[in-house]
Amino acid sequence: AWTERAIIDGILADIRAQVGDEEVVLALSGGVDSSVVAVLLHQAIGDRLTCVFVDNGLLRLHEGDQVMATFADHLGVRVIRVNAAARFLGALKGVDDPERKRKIIGETFITVFEEEAARLARVRWLAQGTIYPDVIESAGAKGGKARVIKSHHNVGGLPERMKLKLLEPLRLLFKDEVRRIGLSLGLPEAMIHRHPFPGPGLGVRILGAVEERYADILRQADAIFIEELRRAGYYDKVSQAFAVFLPVRSVGVVGDGRAYEHVIALRAVETVDFMTANWAELPYALLGRVSSRIINEVRGVSRVVYDVSGKPPATIEWE
Ligand code: XMP
Repeated sequence: AWTERAIIDGILADIRAQVGDEEVVLALSGGVDSSVVAVLLHQAIGDRLTCVFVDNGLLRLHEGDQVMATFADHLGVRVIRVNAAARFLGALKGVDDPERKRKIIGETFITVFEEEAARLARVRWLAQGTIYPDVIESAGAKGGKARVIKSHHNVGGLPERMKLKLLEPLRLLFKDEVRRIGLSLGLPEAMIHRHPFPGPGLGVRILGAVEERYADILRQADAIFIEELRRAGYYDKVSQAFAVFLPVRSVGVVGDGRAYEHVIALRAVETVDFMTANWAELPYALLGRVSSRIINEVRGVSRVVYDVSGKPPATIEWE
């Protein structure tokens, strides 16, 4: 529509006027906001944009490959993929407190990103996918729990330290406007209407200490849940859905013997603002299919449960 076109043209002109012939670096997560910023910047300044995509080992199944396929292969955006799983998992070793896990993941991200950005000698700008509600939220923020910081890649303090200028092309837009612009820029529907995914990723969906093999199990279980939701037409009806790995062992029958295997919890919620939420009344048949598939296809899981807790008091994430 012409409104999106007009907004896009305005943003492109602003970017060109601000950046001139300098270079820009962007932390690309594959989320809606950073994805839209990547495309806008690519259209405005082409190869003077370099995106850094950090694989922290806590992403969903094939997520890194999909980001590279969309941006690097399909759109021709210059993207550096950093495989930093070992670093994140090493830093998280034995840590079971959720807020400490968040802090470690956030700090490791900043360190890794900073190292990559420092190699780009000609970069003068750091672009961020800040949208209008983030601007308001941070203006009103008074510290508190780390999870009030919703920005996927919170690179606060980084611009000053690296002597980069901050570029925030979406700072006057609301989420629905960002989505409309993203669609009109040709980003895939599935990317634009994806459920939110927290910055610490699977790190806060594996309860307690994170282990690589737990992440592998969770990735497979989560992918099955999402695939079945999509197939049944429920993905777009719920606001957020995901699997959680419970590091407890429950007894199961395998062949002639017993096995003590892990438990996967499924969570699906409906919400307008993510401040309060209802658990989604998914059909039993759908839950049954997801459960059988996870138990049959994912080794190490013998039991699947569905979370029927509202927020409040239960938060949407389990940690
Ligand atoms: P809770 O669990 O607080 O989640 O009910 C509300 C929304 O925020 C997301 N969430 C996070 N997002 N970093 C993020 O970027 C975080 O540490 C974090 N914790 C929760 C959660 O997925 C939900 O959409």
